[in-house]
Amino acid sequence: MTQINQNFLELQGSYLFSEIAKRRTKFMHENPDADIISLGIGDVTRGLPDAVMTAMHAAVDELAQPRTFRGYGPEQGYDFLLQAIVEHDYKARGIDIATNEVFVSDGSKCDVGNIQEIFSQDAVIAVQDPVYPVYVDTNVMAGRSGKFNSETNQYENIVYLRCDASNDFKPSLPDRKVDLIYLCYPNNPTGMTLTKGELKAWVDYAKENGCIILFDSAYEAFITEADVPRSIYEIEGAHEVAIEFRSFSKTAGFTGVRCAYTVVPRALKAKDASGNEVTVADLWNRRHTTKFNGVSYVTQRGAAAIYSPEGKRQITELVDYYMTNAGIIRDGLKSLGLQVYGGVNAPYIWLKTPSGLDSWSFFDKLLGEANIVGTPGVGFGQAGQGYFRLTAFGSRENTEKAVERITKLSL
Ligand code: MLT
Repeated sequence: MTQINQNFLELQGSYLFSEIAKRRTKFMHENPDADIISLGIGDVTRGLPDAVMTAMHAAVDELAQPRTFRGYGPEQGYDFLLQAIVEHDYKARGIDIATNEVFVSDGSKCDVGNIQEIFSQDAVIAVQDPVYPVYVDTNVMAGRSGKFNSETNQYENIVYLRCDASNDFKPSLPDRKVDLIYLCYPNNPTGMTLTKGELKAWVDYAKENGCIILFDSAYEAFITEADVPRSIYEIEGAHEVAIEFRSFSKTAGFTGVRCAYTVVPRALKAKDASGNEVTVADLWNRRHTTKFNGVSYVTQRGAAAIYSPEGKRQITELVDYYMTNAGIIRDGLKSLGLQVYGGVNAPYIWLKTPSGLDSWSFFDKLLGEANIVGTPGVGFGQAGQGYFRLTAFGSRENTEKAVERITKLSL
């Protein structure tokens, strides 16, 4: 018989959001009349902005005619989208990024999952704890994690950077040599952020210690406070140490449409086995062109439309809508005396579970007694035990209803 990749057997349970969906389906089966509100997976609920829809319709019409038809496009993305990204997300903010440093893809989940492939098998990775599970699981699949320790609920070769209320959810610098550091800001799941000064400490650390920061910035559009960096490249020297991941999913309602991009600056270098310097962007380009055939033309036209004046206005409205929801959840839970974090620069609200309940017990209570699906903090790592995440991506009506139901619970 053919042998499997043994690393897959080191993975723990099922992927967090699949497990939640499974429990929700079981509950629905047993309680067919329950009016379930989902504030679990961070999936958007509003329709696509008009500007996006109009651009996509027009693109479909183009594809219908031989004269304007497009087949395979450039794997890295069409120039019209690359130009728009560089212009609006970087140059307009005084950041120097060139179009050949941007790689359009079908999602940040795929990119943050795939990026580890271009680094050495024995690279040591550091992750925040709690953490978006994709960073950890993809390194487990690649054989970098070592064994899982069920007592610590952690992998032995991964460096976990604890983020909890005691450090205001801001990780300390690693206490041993690491090669790749995954940072996510605004943070999923805690909704917390770093200031420019705090992020600078990470960039300086990476420069001094020869490591690379993998900066997941999927929630950048939700930042409302001034001193919160919108891109890691706002920090001097970051071009030499960081890869940045951005997504249209939450910003423009693209969770189902699928479009994102990754920035790999040409100044970012790593070394080969003989110690020679390699331009990381060349490797990512090689991987991308080999394993990916580009995002559809229609989708890229839709993505580019968010940079038009009306697109920008509609995106702002969309983000404001979700952030108003975040405020409703945050204020509602705070008024119950709960300890609540996030929800100011991110669409996630992170709360300390009441009555000392563990994360999954609170999940069951919320589902059973209020018919609300959330995400257990421990699903993001051991430091998330005793915490719980709610998303602001529901409809206004459901968000208000959910808060009202939680208010009625005996907590
Ligand atoms: C989340 O709920 O953490 C995200 O929606 C998951 C994702 O973006 O893949």
